[in-house]
Amino acid sequence: PPPGPMGIDPLRSVAKEMKFMTGNIRQLLGSGHPMLDTVSKYYTQSEGKYIRPMLVLLMSQATALFPTRPRNSKRFESIDLPLTPPSILADANPSSPLTSLQSEAEETTTSDVLPSQRRLAEIVELIHTASLLHDDVIDKSLSRRGQASANIEFGNKMAVLAGDFLLGRASVALARLRDPEVTELIATIIANLVEGEFMQMKNTAMDERNPKWSEETVTYYLQKTYLKSASLISKSCRSAALLGEHTPEVVEAAYQYGKNLGLAFQLVDDMLDYTVSGAELGKPAGADLELGLATAPLLFAWKDNQELGKLVGRKFSSEGDVQRARDIVIQSNGIEQTRALAQDYCDKAARAISGFPESDAKAGLINMCEKVMKRRK
Ligand code: FPP
Ligand code: MG
Ligand code: MG
Repeated sequence: PPPGPMGIDPLRSVAKEMKFMTGNIRQLLGSGHPMLDTVSKYYTQSEGKYIRPMLVLLMSQATALFPTRPRNSKRFESIDLPLTPPSILADANPSSPLTSLQSEAEETTTSDVLPSQRRLAEIVELIHTASLLHDDVIDKSLSRRGQASANIEFGNKMAVLAGDFLLGRASVALARLRDPEVTELIATIIANLVEGEFMQMKNTAMDERNPKWSEETVTYYLQKTYLKSASLISKSCRSAALLGEHTPEVVEAAYQYGKNLGLAFQLVDDMLDYTVSGAELGKPAGADLELGLATAPLLFAWKDNQELGKLVGRKFSSEGDVQRARDIVIQSNGIEQTRALAQDYCDKAARAISGFPESDAKAGLINMCEKVMKRRK
């Protein structure tokens, strides 16, 4: 990446950590069943953007400069216990010398990221990937990360089960952090993802057959967006600060950063669905309308053009609806308003951590706010 505002590469600080991410995640996913092994590792083949783990690592580093309370080192002895026996038929005996889960990064880098924080980054990516496996089944998606999606490659059943397996492995790794507050936060993320997905499937804030625009339309959308996207980013940033044993103020700042960045991230995502081609996205563009979904650009356009209500009511299912809705949105200021709202959230995210001591990691977190606004995929 190009040098950031301070003339240094803000991601340099986590680049070393990130190099081991895929390998560490694949270690967490080993199964004695070859097919399960293949399906559950499928989305690790084409590396994702790793935005969520990167944020966890940057937050860990950026907060490492604060004085911390005395650490209870005993708590972390369990992290590197082997997670899985080499054969599914063998007994899971944690004290036997099986695959060590000690990450390579730990041996090769001296870093201010704690082993528990590094593991948190991996757990968060596992949960995200599990949600993608399930999401692609729900959305009947054809492609993901530039290749056939898992539901296409292996079928719905295996894709769902692989997602469940990822959640199981994430849970084991989480339990081994031996931190009840972090466990509660991460478990809540999983519940929130499902709640967000339900809010998206069934809008309880309006009469779905004859919807009328109201301020509540936008409030509901933002609540859904928090649950579906920002919950994971905010609670994982909060967890990173908790694992660092930081003060409630620092923990809350980390959370506010993640919440606002997460909301901005999803708003931009919903905008890109209207503005960028499928080839660039690595997944089909214009997918939201095809799925019957009214996202921010359309909700803002709807306020000024009541015709959209009729189309929202039938989920853009009649011949020509998708094209008509798209045309109205593109001619409206809905896309611009979405961008402006995302910018507001980015500004709030940056402000939340303005009191952090200056560092490459802090510059990296600020840089992420700029990247979110500039991204094309
Ligand atoms: C991607 O959204 C999907 C999510 C952010 C979360 C989906 C959540 C579930 C399916 C709930 C249950 C799953 C788990 C593992 C808790 P999208 O469809 O808008 O984005 P896309 O264009 O990348 O598919
Ligand atoms: Mg989807
Ligand atoms: Mg979806």
